[in-house]
Amino acid sequence: MLRTERLILRPFGREDAPTVQRLAGAREVADTTLTIPHPYLDGVAESWIATHEEAWKQKDRATFAVTTEAEGLIGAIGLHLRLGHQRAELGYWIGLPFWNRGYATEAARAIIAFGFESLGLNRIHASHLTRNPASGRVMEKAGMRFEGTLRQHVVRWGRLEDLNTYAVLRSERAV
Ligand SMILES: CC(C)(COP(=O)(O)OP(=O)(O)OC[C@H]1O[C@@H](n2cnc3c(N)ncnc32)[C@H](O)[C@@H]1OP(=O)(O)O)[C@@H](O)C(=O)NCCC(=O)NCCS
Repeated sequence: MLRTERLILRPFGREDAPTVQRLAGAREVADTTLTIPHPYLDGVAESWIATHEEAWKQKDRATFAVTTEAEGLIGAIGLHLRLGHQRAELGYWIGLPFWNRGYATEAARAIIAFGFESLGLNRIHASHLTRNPASGRVMEKAGMRFEGTLRQHVVRWGRLEDLNTYAVLRSERAV
C-alpha cells in the first residue's frame, strides 16, 4: 500500500469488480488504452483482478487500485516488470468523473518512486497514443522525458495509431 497527499494506492480486491466494470466500461476510458475491452462484459473485472496476486508473485506485474478517502476506487495504475532489464512499463487509467484533478500524475509519481526505491528499477517507461495528449502531460509531470514517436506502431479500433514514448532513469530522479 502506498500513500500520497490525496491517494491511497492499494491492491485490488474482488469487491472492486463492479466499480472497475463501471469506470473502465466507459468508452472514453477504453478508447485510448490498448488493453481495456469495450464493451466491458460481466466477469472481465473479476478475472482481471484474480490475475494480480500471481502476477505480483511472479514479479511480472504490480497493479494498484487508485483510491481516495472520499470517492473510493477511482482508477488503476501498474508496472509491467522486466526485472532482468531493471525496467518496467507504467500504465494507468482514471475514471472519467475524476479526470483533470491531478490524480493520474500523483499516482504516477508514487509508483515511479516505488519502482526505483523498492523494486530497484533503473528505467521506467510509458507510451501513449499521440491523440491522447493528456497522458503525455501526466508522463511529463511525473518526470519522464519524451524519447520519440513510434509511427503506426499499434492498431486500436481497427486503425493504425502512432505512439509517443517517454521514460525516466534512476539517475535522472531528483532526490
Ligand atoms: C490520461 C488520464 C490517465 C489522465 O488522468 P488525469 O487524472 O485526468 O490526469 P492529470 O489530472 O494528472 O493530468 C492531466 C493533464 O492533461 C491535461 N489535458 C487534459 N486534456 C487534455 C487535452 N485534450 N490536450 C492536452 N492536455 C490535456 C490536463 O490539463 C492536465 O495537465 P496540466 O496539469 O498541465 O493542466 C485519463 O484521462 C485517462 O484515464 N484516460 C483514459 C485511459 C488512458 O488513456 N490511460 C493512459 C493510457 S497511455
